[in-house]
Amino acid sequence: MLEQINNLRERGQNELNALTGTDQLPEWYHRYLGRKGDLTSLLRQLKTLPAEERPEMGKVINKVKQELQKLFESRQQTLRESKLDLQLEIDDLDVSLPGRPCTPGHLHLTTQTLRRIYQIFREMGFQVYEAPEVESDEFNFQLLNIPQYHPSRDMWDTFWVNDKVVLRTHTSPGQIWAMREYFPEPIRVILPGKCYRYEQITPRSEHQFYQVEGLAIGKNIRLTDLIGVMGEFAHKMYGEERKIRIRGSYFPFTEPSIEIDMSCSCENKGCRLCKNTGWLEVAGAGMVHPVVLSNGGYDPEEWTGFAFGMGVERPALLKHNIDDIRYFYNNDLRFLHQF
Ligand code: PHE
Repeated sequence: MLEQINNLRERGQNELNALTGTDQLPEWYHRYLGRKGDLTSLLRQLKTLPAEERPEMGKVINKVKQELQKLFESRQQTLRESKLDLQLEIDDLDVSLPGRPCTPGHLHLTTQTLRRIYQIFREMGFQVYEAPEVESDEFNFQLLNIPQYHPSRDMWDTFWVNDKVVLRTHTSPGQIWAMREYFPEPIRVILPGKCYRYEQITPRSEHQFYQVEGLAIGKNIRLTDLIGVMGEFAHKMYGEERKIRIRGSYFPFTEPSIEIDMSCSCENKGCRLCKNTGWLEVAGAGMVHPVVLSNGGYDPEEWTGFAFGMGVERPALLKHNIDDIRYFYNNDLRFLHQF
């Protein structure tokens, strides 16, 4: 019997080493170590031996069984590894490699510009106030003193959702939201956000863009306060050497209405940016119209205020010498990486 056992062990070992793939392992296992395998049948034959030889022989068989079990496991391991190696060699995808790390991004140029604007106005006591991007005709126009069918609506090319709902064409409806929320307190807020206009996309205009609206409501607020605030802003944003100038203008929700320009960095020598005028447009602005004040809940006999609205992409264009506003929205990393 001992000889039988030794033969079996040798045969088992040789066959195991001769296996070439993991798919052949189960068959080997059943033949040698399985419930109906050769070793099990040897154990069964023990009872044919004389009683005194049985324990000794039993031990030997069990030892061989353990040995083969160990060999099986290590052979299994080897075959698995070489299978993986082979796969890695023929496959393009190596799932065991560490992934490519994501490079962290950074804030979009628009966000950077917005944050700089917040910072400057915060120093002058303005809080950021957010208003809806989808507006009613009432807020976007009517409460701002622009009745239905009024010709001044032509100033805003509009995305209508239906005949009462629009994507806001400017941040000015936020004036009404802020006034209705803060009444009867004085107000100093800026209202940043995305605006939409149904217009031709060109290097200078997009159908979506950011504005920052400013609103100050109080007692005895005057046009010179507005001019002072805008001058301070121009200095902080673009440099102390900048001057601002005021032109008369028209908006239905301000009276009087002005346009604020800032001196160009070419210092009046004339350049492409300022189209040789020496001046750049910064904001539309004015004193809040009495009708708008009372629509917000403030008595125009008692309260006055100023408002302004400025673009965000344009100043960023100027600051960084970018020649096309469309870069801001087409997600080209070669553009975004530069800022
Ligand atoms: N809402 C105006 C525009 O989009 C700008 C503006 C804001 C003018 C506030 C006056 C006061 O053109």
